[in-house]
Amino acid sequence: MICHRPVLILDSGVGGLTVLREVRFKLPYERLVYVIDDAAFPYGGWDEIPLAERLIDLVGRQIELHDPKVVLIACNTAFTLVGEALRAAFPDMAFVGTVPAIKPAAHRTRSGLISVLATPGTVRRAYTRDLIARHASNCHVRLVGSDLLAEMAEAHLRGDDTADADLLTEIADCFLEDGARRTDIIVLACTHYPFLANRFREIAPWPVDWIDPAEAIARQLARVVETARVLPAGNVSVRGVEAQPDQAIFTSGRRDADSLRLLTGFGLSA
Ligand code: DGL
Repeated sequence: MICHRPVLILDSGVGGLTVLREVRFKLPYERLVYVIDDAAFPYGGWDEIPLAERLIDLVGRQIELHDPKVVLIACNTAFTLVGEALRAAFPDMAFVGTVPAIKPAAHRTRSGLISVLATPGTVRRAYTRDLIARHASNCHVRLVGSDLLAEMAEAHLRGDDTADADLLTEIADCFLEDGARRTDIIVLACTHYPFLANRFREIAPWPVDWIDPAEAIARQLARVVETARVLPAGNVSVRGVEAQPDQAIFTSGRRDADSLRLLTGFGLSA
């Protein structure tokens, strides 16, 4: 029996689902394996060296287990830290990453005031500072790190909502006024945050554009899959090829009913 090599998607929690749903839309015939490193959640507060070691080890083991055609790191906190190291450690593997969408924000802003809402880890990264220097040197970019938003997004998705006032505390620093100019773009630089985007819109002091990079990431993945020398894509029945369901794996081994129901809703078996 031949099995299609899957696309492996990795995040620390449910955030990667914001990318996975776009991947499904763009690449409906690819088989997906979604690895949720919840044993280490949240990545945002980890020191860089232990997190980098953990990620390289985890990705290596998952490559061995699943033999993916492409690995998609659906996490800014992880990819801004180990994107280069992963490519060096696994030179035969194609990687697609997630980085703060600073370049498109710099193109789109009218006021020149942009905020990047991310985990404390992503805000600290040299990679993020470098993106700003290379693509947004003519803008004022404010980096806002939140210790709590990823957990609030997890709770939101499991039906347990955070009060408006607590959410506002986390995003308030994104809104800057400088004379007649006001922040007009906020980059959602953590894959968990798009799940809260509608709440953010409701409580925002003024309307802004919230940039979610998921669609652009799925487009990039489609380009990489197309150029990778791999078996033809398909959950569809191709003679001699066994269709397999999309799958999710929790690194903690958790199997609570809420999480399983959530994953089922996204078409994943756990
Ligand atoms: N979803 C992850 C990101 O895009 C981070 C969440 C966490 O702190 O673990 O950065």
